[in-house]
Amino acid sequence: MQLKLRKPDDWHVHLRDGDALATTVPDCAQSFARAIVMPNLKPPVASLDAARAYRDRILAAVPEGMAFEPLMTLYLTPDLAIEAVREGKASGLIQGVKLYPQGATTNSEAGVASLEGVMPVLEAMAEVGLPLLVHGEVTDRDIDIFDREAIFLERTLGPLMNRLPQLRVILEHITTADSVNFVKAHPSMGATITAHHLIYSRNDMLAGGIRPHLYCLPILKRASHRGALIEAATSGDPQFFLGTDSAPHAIGDKESDCGCAGCYTAPHALSLYASVFDRAGRLDQFEAFASLNGARFYGLPVNTQTVTLIKQPMLIPETRPLGSQQVRLLGAGETLDWSLA
Ligand code: DOR
Ligand code: ZN
Repeated sequence: MQLKLRKPDDWHVHLRDGDALATTVPDCAQSFARAIVMPNLKPPVASLDAARAYRDRILAAVPEGMAFEPLMTLYLTPDLAIEAVREGKASGLIQGVKLYPQGATTNSEAGVASLEGVMPVLEAMAEVGLPLLVHGEVTDRDIDIFDREAIFLERTLGPLMNRLPQLRVILEHITTADSVNFVKAHPSMGATITAHHLIYSRNDMLAGGIRPHLYCLPILKRASHRGALIEAATSGDPQFFLGTDSAPHAIGDKESDCGCAGCYTAPHALSLYASVFDRAGRLDQFEAFASLNGARFYGLPVNTQTVTLIKQPMLIPETRPLGSQQVRLLGAGETLDWSLA
């Protein structure tokens, strides 16, 4: 059995920088024609010059004969210039601005603690039609980590959508039924869904032993939420699209006293997602989720290249190099039903 589809795009990926690009860029480009590249480097990608230079470093890592288009984002710091938003949009360099609530995740220290100070920037984005990409979690230490996404909708995103209903917002890597319903209730919104949140729930991470390679943010939730995500992703609803949130950390940084958040899925993401759609009996909706819905939301043309997936067992490799270190693939050593031809 084969599945031929338009080459997908990854609407949320972490390529990192430096010598990591030698692995992350080819791994991403093999399966995806384009990718929305997250700006949470150190220092963050918070100016047009930084975005241009980062784009050049990514392009330099694209293997000969492969086509890949990195779609750049700006990191929303409290002092991001309105001019960067206007020029970034007008020049076509910038496809979105990423909101990290300060302290929410990897390299989010430069993020915003309150939206009040960045309202002029958000208003300019609404005016020029530049999407806001949101890491949707509150960061208060007294809010339970499993509730942080749902409380963010209530406290932060709901009021923002009321204030700026024309702002295009993508709620990234959604993990709850609450988010599915919230997005559906707001026509100006879209949402990305990762493979790991479609495949695993918190029991997989915590029951019978702690599995640091399943630790990501937002954290895996209970199985009923995973069911809601599968339903949304496989429904064909154009508001939901593929975003791997592939986020490599060296093995030692994950298997640690204080392990980093992130799952590395770029090399086998299409096989992971296809297995989910197959098990749900919804392979007919896979192309919409992977190759059509995101392009439509971003107002970009769909890809003309194609990829073919074959229903043939694929053993997930253990590791990939990450600079001088190694990163472990999500599900390493397990077998998937679908392979990339
Ligand atoms: O698991 C995650 N890893 N979630 C994020 O929000 C950031 C990412 C990273 O950059 O490591
Ligand atoms: Zn991410």
